[in-house]
Amino acid sequence: MKGLILAGGSGTRLRPITHTANKHLIPIANKPILFYGIETLKEAGIKDIGIILGENDPEAVKNAVGDGSGFGINVTYIYQGEPKGLAHAVSCAEEFIGDESFVMYLGDNLLKKGINELVADFKKNNHDAVIALCKVKNPQQFGVAEMDHNRVVRLVEKPGNPKSDLALVGVYVFKPVIFDSIRKIKPSLRGELEITDAIQGLLNDGCNVQAHIVKGWWKDTGKPEDLLEANHLILDDIEPLNKAKIEDGVKVHGRVAIGEGTIIKEGSVIRGPISIGSNCSIGPDTYIGPYTSIGNNTVIRRGEIESSIIISDTIIDCGGKIVDSLIGKNSRIISRETLPKGYRFVIGENSEVNI
Ligand code: DAU
Repeated sequence: MKGLILAGGSGTRLRPITHTANKHLIPIANKPILFYGIETLKEAGIKDIGIILGENDPEAVKNAVGDGSGFGINVTYIYQGEPKGLAHAVSCAEEFIGDESFVMYLGDNLLKKGINELVADFKKNNHDAVIALCKVKNPQQFGVAEMDHNRVVRLVEKPGNPKSDLALVGVYVFKPVIFDSIRKIKPSLRGELEITDAIQGLLNDGCNVQAHIVKGWWKDTGKPEDLLEANHLILDDIEPLNKAKIEDGVKVHGRVAIGEGTIIKEGSVIRGPISIGSNCSIGPDTYIGPYTSIGNNTVIRRGEIESSIIISDTIIDCGGKIVDSLIGKNSRIISRETLPKGYRFVIGENSEVNI
């Protein structure tokens, strides 16, 4: 069995971060989202993995993952180019997949319990496809499965009027028959070849499509608020490992993971769960609160920060409190005493500032 991770697309909902970076490399608890997917496939025994690349900084993905040996897997890169839909991405991988079954995994998804059970179900029961489902409060934002008891009856992509609250999670297992079904579908109203329509095609052709309800949490990290929520969920399970140099008078509570070369300066309070990378300087008199991830080479000099992701290489010296924020690489948030007083911004296209 092979694996196919989709890491193309344009990441429009995560601009401005994705103006310059591939969304699959945004760190959650200081590890790129994509790495969680790779580890999930590897845990399920899948070592031959194709990664779909789009137009959004494909070289950065190749640099980060390399040939896969660092993860104990073999990686083949497949260029999709323009994001013409999930089914289009899969069709680009037909030669790589050949006549094997495969797991298709959306590279911006995270699943707490992994996919071992789902893969085992597929292998044991000789299904043509297994789709992962999860109950959600906002089904209109997902592909939705209508069921008759345990049988999948109909799949609809982002229905205006959903008849079910079971969303398609971004994990699917297919036999190569899916490629025939993809050849028969037409672009949807949003102009994409939808994998949901290709699976509906399998159902129409009488193929055996099995639903699998996921256990534990599942998170699609398409929007900034999803990233912050995913950061909460991952930090809840963080392994404590503190390699920081801690100065006198610093208080550290709860589970913290702090990398090598980081210094926590006097009078600061660190309250986990948090993850701080390497070579950071925190303090003096700085509060880092729960559910915060701070990337490498970041300096935070006064003030408070909570429930936020700072990607890396950033300086914050503003005295105030920052909450629920996603701060891109190489940013500066600094308060100055010079006149005229007022906020001074240098922010890129599609930025959001809430004061
Ligand atoms: O997250 C689950 C949902 O994912 C499902 O419920 C939907 O049925 C499914 O269509 C998909 O919906 P999204 O609108 O969230 O898909 P999105 O465009 O965000 O793309 C999902 C991933 O696939 C993302 O990691 C980028 C990648 N991708 C996307 C497109 C459109 C590609 O690699 N190529 C593409 O052409």
